[in-house]
Amino acid sequence: MKVSIKAGLVAAIAFAGFAVTGSTLADEGLPEGVTAVKATPPSKDHPLDEILSGWTFRTPETQALQQDDFENPGYLWVERGEALWSEVDGSAGKACASCHNDAADSMKGVGAEMPKWDAKLNRPLTMEQRINNCRTENMGAKEWKWESTQMLSMTSYVRNQSRGMPVNVQADGPMASWVAKGKEVYYTRVGQLDMSCANCHEANYGKYIRADFLSQGHSNGFPTYRLKWQKIGSLHRRFKGCMKNIRATPYKVGGDEFVALEVYLAQRGKGLQVEAPAVRN
Ligand code: HEC
Ligand code: HEC
Repeated sequence: MKVSIKAGLVAAIAFAGFAVTGSTLADEGLPEGVTAVKATPPSKDHPLDEILSGWTFRTPETQALQQDDFENPGYLWVERGEALWSEVDGSAGKACASCHNDAADSMKGVGAEMPKWDAKLNRPLTMEQRINNCRTENMGAKEWKWESTQMLSMTSYVRNQSRGMPVNVQADGPMASWVAKGKEVYYTRVGQLDMSCANCHEANYGKYIRADFLSQGHSNGFPTYRLKWQKIGSLHRRFKGCMKNIRATPYKVGGDEFVALEVYLAQRGKGLQVEAPAVRN
C-alpha cells in the first residue's frame, strides 16, 4: 500500500498495516549494554499492552550499529563528554569532576531518573537544565546551548552511565501535575494534519507511515544518533521534528510544554532500559 501525505489536506494520512512480527524485527541480539528491550506496563490502565523500545522497530542494519559500541557513531559524543567532564571552565576554576569525581560512580542511575524534581527551583529539570544549572550556579560558567556539541556530548556521557538501568522517573507528589500536563500535550491534536502523538505512536505503532516504520515513540534511547541527522540529537529536537511533520508549530526546545512531555514520556516508558546513545534511522 502506498502512503502519501498531501500538503494542506487535513488528516489525509494513511497507515499501512503491518504485523509486529517476522523479518523486520530481530529475534536475536540486543543493543550493547542492555538486557531487555521491552517492559511490562506497571498497571492495567497503562495505554500500552507491552512497552517496546524503539530499537525493536528498526532494521537489522540500524540495530547492528547499536549492538557494538565500536560501531555506534554516538560513542563519539560519549567520548567527547568524558573529556569535557574534567575540563576546567568558568570563574570558579572548576570542572564537573572537581565536585562529582568519577562519573561512573556519581552519575550512575542519574540519567534513568531524569527529568528530576528540583526542590530549590520548584520544578522538574531535564538533564540539559540540570547541567546548565551546575554550570551557572556551581562553576560560574556560561550555559551551553541545548543542541550544542558540548551539551550533546555531556548529556550522552552522563546518560550513558545509566545504560541498562530501568527508566524510573518520579511521577507522584509535585511531579504529578507535570505528568498530567505532558499527557495533555501528548493527546492533543495539533497542526494542519490535526494529529496527536498518540495517533502515530499509540494507535499505529508497528505500521508504516510513508517510508517510516512507526515505533511507540519512547525516550529511553536519547540522546540518540540518527542516521538522517548524521549526528546525535536531543529528545526535544525529535519532538520538534515530529511536530513539524504534522505541520504544527513546535513548542520551544527547553520550554515547559516539552519538559512536561519529556516527564510524561519517561513515565509512559517506565521500566524500559536506558539505551543512550541509541542509533535510529
Ligand atoms: C505522523 C506521525 C507522527 C506523529 C503524530 C508523531 N510522531 Fe514521533 N515519530 C514518528 C516517526 C515516523 C518516527 C521515527 C520512527 C519511530 O521511531 O517511530 C518518530 C519517532 C519518535 C521518537 C523517537 C523514538 C525512538 O525510539 O528513537 C519519539 C521520542 C517521538 N517520535 C515522540 C513523539 C511525540 C512526543 C509526538 C507528539 C508531539 C510525536 N512523536 C508525534 C512519527 C510521528
Ligand atoms: C562546585 C561543585 C559542582 C560542579 C563543579 C558541578 N556540579 Fe553538578 N552538582 C553539584 C551539586 C551540589 C549537585 C546537587 C544538586 C544541587 O544542589 O545543585 C549537583 C548535581 C548535579 C546533577 C544531578 C545529580 C542527581 O543526582 O540528580 C548532575 C547531572 C550534575 N550535577 C552534572 C554536572 C556536570 C555535567 C557538571 C560539569 C559541567 C557539574 N555538574 C559541575 C555540584 C557541582
